[in-house]
Amino acid sequence: MLLPGGTIGILGGGQLGRMTAMAAARLGYRTHVFAAEHDAPAAQVASAATIAPFGDAAAIARFAAAVDVATFEFENIPGAAVRRVAAKRPVSPRPEILEITQDRLREKNFLREIGVATTDYHEITDPDALAEAARKLGVPAVLKTVRLGYDGKGQVLITADTRPDGAWRQMGGTLGILEGFVDFRCEISVVLARGADGAVAVYPPVENRHVNHILDTTIAPARLPAEILAEAEAVARQIAERLDLVGVLAVEMFVTKSGALLVNELAPRPHNSGHWTIDACMTSQFEQLVRAICGLPLGSTERHADAVMNNLIGRDVERWREALDDPQAKLHLYGKNRVRPGRKMGHITRLLPRS
Ligand SMILES: Nc1ncnc2c1ncn2[C@@H]1O[C@H](COP(=O)(O)OP(=O)(O)O)[C@@H](O)[C@H]1O
Ligand SMILES: [Mg+2]
Repeated sequence: MLLPGGTIGILGGGQLGRMTAMAAARLGYRTHVFAAEHDAPAAQVASAATIAPFGDAAAIARFAAAVDVATFEFENIPGAAVRRVAAKRPVSPRPEILEITQDRLREKNFLREIGVATTDYHEITDPDALAEAARKLGVPAVLKTVRLGYDGKGQVLITADTRPDGAWRQMGGTLGILEGFVDFRCEISVVLARGADGAVAVYPPVENRHVNHILDTTIAPARLPAEILAEAEAVARQIAERLDLVGVLAVEMFVTKSGALLVNELAPRPHNSGHWTIDACMTSQFEQLVRAICGLPLGSTERHADAVMNNLIGRDVERWREALDDPQAKLHLYGKNRVRPGRKMGHITRLLPRS
């Protein structure tokens, strides 16, 4: 167990690391952020920071020596960097989980192996393989880069008119996956925490609306029949157990028009669709992560309010003042000075009476 006063290392400098560092500080921990860029959102609020590329082995070694335990806040950290830290200090979730979830093929193969339903998919190695897979799967279908995609980057919708070579180039990856397009009723996610002792704390499934493939709105809890919600929770628990996860896991799912659940992707870290838990639950997803990786008991996931979370993306952030005038709204800004289209700048959580 790492007691308050100890130092938690966070690989990655984004808003998820920032909110984790803030939760850690409240429990009396210090944080040390490893980020690739100066003035990273997480580094601004951490006790210490190392700013270096993830491939800098000497910087990684210094970071590992300075922390008691470590975690990561985004998927695209090179597996080698995480393994270097894990050779010296406990890293949770364990590095192999990161390596599974940073590779869409490994992730879907894992889900298939444990009997969790996903949309049909094929590995794509070149434009010819794409053409053949599109024939087998039917169109529309979604071509995604296997690695390094996020917020819809590296995704191309394949229709009957698509030219395979153009789509392959547009995807921009070296290896792809073609997925059957899901004409879903809605998208949901389940966020849970799991401790080293195997204890699990699940938040209620939430409904997610995306705009341009980027999360725009989360409605908590999801407004779906109780059986679907219970099944979603059970699937998320099963995945966490089979991964032997210690930390926080988000499971993104499609709810089909017939009410079936198809898992879309996994994130072994706090998730954008769990930000509402900061303001509406007894214990936030970030505090759960701190508790889990430090070996403390998990907190209650009970919510004292329902909530609607809206991301402030790109120039949306200019509307931040509106939230201050709304007595039910809580404003969160991530300390990013440069506004770019599609960049997550902050979010607003509006609280509603508990249903
Ligand atoms: N197979 C699919 N069918 C329908 N919509 C999809 C499919 N794959 C992705 N999408 C849409 O694009 C969004 C982002 O895709 P996702 O696979 O979650 O990648 P990432 O979040 O890593 O960019 C999803 O939340 C969903 O709205
Ligand atoms: Mg996603």
